Amino acid sequence: MLERRRSSPGDDLVSTLIAEEQDGDRLSDVELVNLVLNVLVGGVDTTQSQLAHAVRLFAEHPEQWERVRSDPETFVALAVEEALRYEPITPFTARIMIEDVEYGGVTFPEGTIVLVGTVAANRDGVEDADRFDVAREPTKPLTFGAGIHYCLGANLAKAEMQEALAFLAARVERFELTAEPGFDTVQGVYGMASLPVRLVPG
Ligand code: HEM
Repeated sequence: MLERRRSSPGDDLVSTLIAEEQDGDRLSDVELVNLVLNVLVGGVDTTQSQLAHAVRLFAEHPEQWERVRSDPETFVALAVEEALRYEPITPFTARIMIEDVEYGGVTFPEGTIVLVGTVAANRDGVEDADRFDVAREPTKPLTFGAGIHYCLGANLAKAEMQEALAFLAARVERFELTAEPGFDTVQGVYGMASLPVRLVPG
């Protein structure tokens, strides 16, 4: 992949990364491969898993799907926000303390790995937080992380999910689970292991 782009660069991400230079420093081959892998794995598995959860949630809450279908212009974007808040496919984000940090009266010594629980954080200060409700004012979930490592693809992921839900809203009257869905573990990307669902057209 790198050799092909090195010998004939094009208007694409890999060629741009190869050419990138800062203070006379370029990305090594290992860094380039890791970065491209991150974008591919981080960009595909994530969004499709989040979408699978959204479909499952709508199968479990048909009245919410009816609401989306009644006014997709308003509710598709809100539905995406609510699925991201309610069932984040990234249940934890992690940070390593590079110095002692005191927070809430607790000192986290340098070197500590802190796992931040997204599911709980997404419910903090949110009214009736355990209710899946597409009419909710968008909150500020931690699903895409925070700070300088905030997800690079957050807007793309939301746009893809909105496209998918708008497409389905125009064609599917309801989703019916035909068996118990299976859940992945919460390590890594937390998606659906199985989602036996019938799409009833309408
Ligand atoms: C629903 C879909 C997605 C979710 C929930 C998600 C979630 C996350 C989270 C939690 C992080 C770590 C943020 C932090 O530690 O503060 C992250 C980082 C990242 N995401 Fe996503 N992501 C999604 C889709 C995507 C897509 C579509 C792309 C690319 C096309 C992408 C590319 C990346 C990259 C490159 C990083 C690393 C950013 C950095 O370290 O500076 N993600 N994502």
